[in-house]
Amino acid sequence: MNGNPLWYKDAVFYEVYVRAFRDSDGDGYGDLRGLIEKLDYLQDLGVDCIWLMPIFPSPLFDDGYDVADFRDIHPDYGNLDDFKELVAEAHKRSIRIITDLVLNHTSSHHPWFQAARKDKTSKYRDYYVWSDTDQKYSEARIIFLDTETSNWAWDEEAGQYYWHRFYSSQPDLNYENPQVQQEMLDVMKFWLDLGIDGFRADAIPYLYEREGTNCENLPETHAYLKQARAFFDKHAPEGILLSEANQWPEDVRAYFGDGDEMHMAFHFPVMPRIFMALKRQDSTPIRQILERTPEIPENTQWCTFLRNHDELTLEMVTEDERQWMWQQYAPDPRMRLNLGIRRRLAPLLDNDKATILLANSLLFTLPGSPILYYGDEIGMGDNIWLDDRNGVRTPMQWDSSQQAGFSEAQELYAPVIAEVPYAPAQVNVASQQADPDSLYHHIKRMIAARKSQPAFSCGDLAWAETDKPEETLAYYRRSNGETLLVINNLSAGAQTVRVKLAQGVGPAFSDLLNGQNFQADGGFLEAKLPPRGYLWLKAG
Ligand code: GLC
Repeated sequence: MNGNPLWYKDAVFYEVYVRAFRDSDGDGYGDLRGLIEKLDYLQDLGVDCIWLMPIFPSPLFDDGYDVADFRDIHPDYGNLDDFKELVAEAHKRSIRIITDLVLNHTSSHHPWFQAARKDKTSKYRDYYVWSDTDQKYSEARIIFLDTETSNWAWDEEAGQYYWHRFYSSQPDLNYENPQVQQEMLDVMKFWLDLGIDGFRADAIPYLYEREGTNCENLPETHAYLKQARAFFDKHAPEGILLSEANQWPEDVRAYFGDGDEMHMAFHFPVMPRIFMALKRQDSTPIRQILERTPEIPENTQWCTFLRNHDELTLEMVTEDERQWMWQQYAPDPRMRLNLGIRRRLAPLLDNDKATILLANSLLFTLPGSPILYYGDEIGMGDNIWLDDRNGVRTPMQWDSSQQAGFSEAQELYAPVIAEVPYAPAQVNVASQQADPDSLYHHIKRMIAARKSQPAFSCGDLAWAETDKPEETLAYYRRSNGETLLVINNLSAGAQTVRVKLAQGVGPAFSDLLNGQNFQADGGFLEAKLPPRGYLWLKAG
C-alpha cells in the first residue's frame, strides 16, 4: 500500500467480527457495508490493520471457520464487490485488511468433501485424511474437549473414518497431496489479487499428521509455510502471514524460520500471564515468560493481545495455573469452555477501569504489535448464557439505543448485552467519545503515544531494577538512541517506587501520556504511582 514491506512491525491491529460490527441493511446481521460505514471510527482510534474473522460462505457450525467456498463472501455479509469496496475504502484511510485463512480444514459442506465422500475414485478423495480404523495418530490431543471425543469421525457415505482436529463438521485437508498444497496457494492468490494485505493463518500447527508424534509443528508443516512465504515474497511483498500457533515460545519461534516463514505470530503464553500478574499483584509470571521468549529475526514481529473471539485459552499454562485461573476468573462453570474462559476483558477485570487500563498499558508497551478485540476499547460485557464462544461475539455498542446503533432490525443474530453495567445505556461508543476521561479516550491516547515512539514497536526490552520488583514491572524499550522507560504498578495499592537508572539514561524524563516532567536524582528515579497506575516516560 505504501511501499513499506515491514509495516506490520509497528502496526496497531483490530479484530472485527463482521456479523457483530454494523448492520447496514437492517436484516439483523452485520455486513461489509456496515464495516465500511465504521472505517472512520477505526481510523480515528488509530487502527492500522483490521483482521476480519472468516467472511466466506459457510454453514456456520464454527462461525465461518468451517469454510464451504474459499472464493466468495457469505451472503449475510455482502458480495465480492462489497469486499473490493471495503479494501479500497480502508486503503484510502491507510488501513490495511487481513482476513482469516483457514488452511487446516474445510466445512463438511465444501464441494471437495462432498465429492470425496461420495466417490472413492474422485480426485477429491485424497484431499482429506481417511482411514479404515480410528486408531491412527492416537498421540494427537483433542482440542474441542467439551464436544469431541475423537479426532476421527465415521462417514457412512464414504465407508471410512476421516480426520478432524476441530469439530467433526470440519474435516482436515490432506497436505501430503500436492494438489491440496497448490489449491490453498491459489486461494491466497485469489484474495491477494483482490487487494487484501495478508492473512491470519488459522490453526497452522496441525496441517500434517505423522504416526508417533503429537501431530503438531511437524517439519513438513514448516516446509509448506515456507513455500507459501516464498509465494508472498514474489507476488505480494507487502502481504503478511500472521500465525495462529497456540504453542510455547520455543515452538512458535520455529514459525518465523530464518525470517523466511511467517511474518508474525501471536504470542499466546504471555496473555494468560498478564491476567495472572494482575490478580496476584506480582509481575513474576510476565517476567518469566518474556525471559523464556527467544529472539526473533529482524523482519518478523510478535502479535500480542488480551482477548479475542475465542475463549481465553489456558493451554499454555501448567495444570496448577489453569485450576487457579479458573477459580479466580471463571467461578461459574458457564464461564468455562474447553481449556479456557469465555469472558470479555471488562468483566474479567471486574469492570475496574484502572485495571483495564493497566492491562492495556502492558499490551501497548511490551514487545510485539498489539491487537484489540472489537468492543474492548469501550469495555463491552459478555453473555455467558449464549452457547460456545457466542457470548463474546455480541453486537457492537455504538450508542445508547435499544439495538445499540448496531442495527435497525428488531431481531438480531444475537441479543445486545442487556444487563447493567454493560448495557448500551452504560457502555457505548457515542457517550465515551463525548467523555475525555472514558476508557475509549485513554486507549486512543495510548495508541497515539505508542505510535509516536518507534522504540515501542522496534526497540529491545530490558528490565529496569526497582525496589518493588514484585509489585511493579519496569522496563526500557530502546532503539536508535531513543530510550523509553515504562513503569507499571500491578498492585491495588499506591506505590512509591525507586527505579535504578541504566548507564547513560536520564536524568530528565517526559511523560508521554500527560506531558509531565520527571527528574532523576543520584542515578535513581522516584515515582509515585496510584493503585494500578502506569507511567510511560521518554528519556531526554
Ligand atoms: C481457530 C479459531 C477458532 C476456530 C478454530 C477452528 O482456533 O480461532 O475460532 O474454532 O481455529 O477453525
